Amino acid sequence: MLSFQPPAIGDEEIDAVVETLRSGWLTTGPRAVELERRMADYLEVEHVLALASGTAALHLALAALGVGPGDEVITSPITWPATANVIVHTGAAPVFVDVRDADLNIDPELVPAAVTERTKAILPVHLAGQPCDLDPIHALGIPVVEDAAHAAESRYRDRKIGSLSDATCFSLYATKNIAAGEGGLVATNRSDVADAVRDLRLMRRGDGSLYDIPVAGYKANLSDILGAIALAQLDKVERHRERRARQFALYDEAVAELDGIEPLARDPRDTHALHLYVVRIDADEAGASRDDYQRALADENIATSIHFLPVHTLTYYRERFPGISLPVAERAGREVLSLPVSPAHSDDDIRDAVTALRRVHAHFTA
Ligand SMILES: Cc1ncc(COP(=O)(O)O)c(C=O)c1O
Repeated sequence: MLSFQPPAIGDEEIDAVVETLRSGWLTTGPRAVELERRMADYLEVEHVLALASGTAALHLALAALGVGPGDEVITSPITWPATANVIVHTGAAPVFVDVRDADLNIDPELVPAAVTERTKAILPVHLAGQPCDLDPIHALGIPVVEDAAHAAESRYRDRKIGSLSDATCFSLYATKNIAAGEGGLVATNRSDVADAVRDLRLMRRGDGSLYDIPVAGYKANLSDILGAIALAQLDKVERHRERRARQFALYDEAVAELDGIEPLARDPRDTHALHLYVVRIDADEAGASRDDYQRALADENIATSIHFLPVHTLTYYRERFPGISLPVAERAGREVLSLPVSPAHSDDDIRDAVTALRRVHAHFTA
């Protein structure tokens, strides 16, 4: 089976973990601090805080902005459920706005109609690594927290994702472009947001063994073991990107010839993080549904994934917030399929996936 998105772990990551274990410092320490410093340089932003997960980063960023019960947060339905879950965790209500057909990012033209006097923040997602259209969202003058879990390398026009909003949240989950296994980052130029996230993440250290808690915080700090892996991955970010760029080019060339199979749009004005290669499968033109394609590719030993099922259609959200209709997202949820992409794959691995996709397509369109 060709794995969907295996991590690209080499001797550097293994050595970094061993060195950390030998250092005697396992929890948050010098490596987490070094990661924050280096990621701040990389993301061209003043403050970066290392956290236990991308989910924790989103949660604490919203909490730092004071989002709480009675508030509303506007977000995209085409995302990992964590994006909406953290809104619920703060006590606020998610307000889902439909996505654009081309790239499945939140449709900025539909956002103004969703704004009410309760809107406390907007939480857009950069799906697959394609930045959403941020300028019209920022123009509304409402605090913005970006879900940049897929967008570690993205630029919106020529500006690095990470420095553009009140807070930008990244994930270091096992499949991500910078993968530590688990972990997350909050990036911000606002020192009040950085201070609040720091207090919420663990606690405020005083001198010696003194400490104080200005808020009832969480346990969301990043261990140095994971920080060390993330640092080794950061060293390879460009090399890994080159491999994924070749994989994207192989898929682009192949799907251009397959009726009914279209990749998500990538805006040439932006830098795409090349995190996920998502295609849409139009059942009428491609001769079978996305689910049929996924099963047939599995029979060909090619693992695929789905990014994403619309969050408002999942049981918890359907029951708690019934009656939501978002037609573009709902259609996309039936059509999207993500093909294997990873710096751990060789070009030949991707050629195998392409051959299998061509064979499956020929079968369904015969
Ligand atoms: C779009 C998106 N947002 C948030 C998350 C949550 O990140 P984490 O798994 O690090 O908590 C993920 C995935 O992992 C994601 O894909």
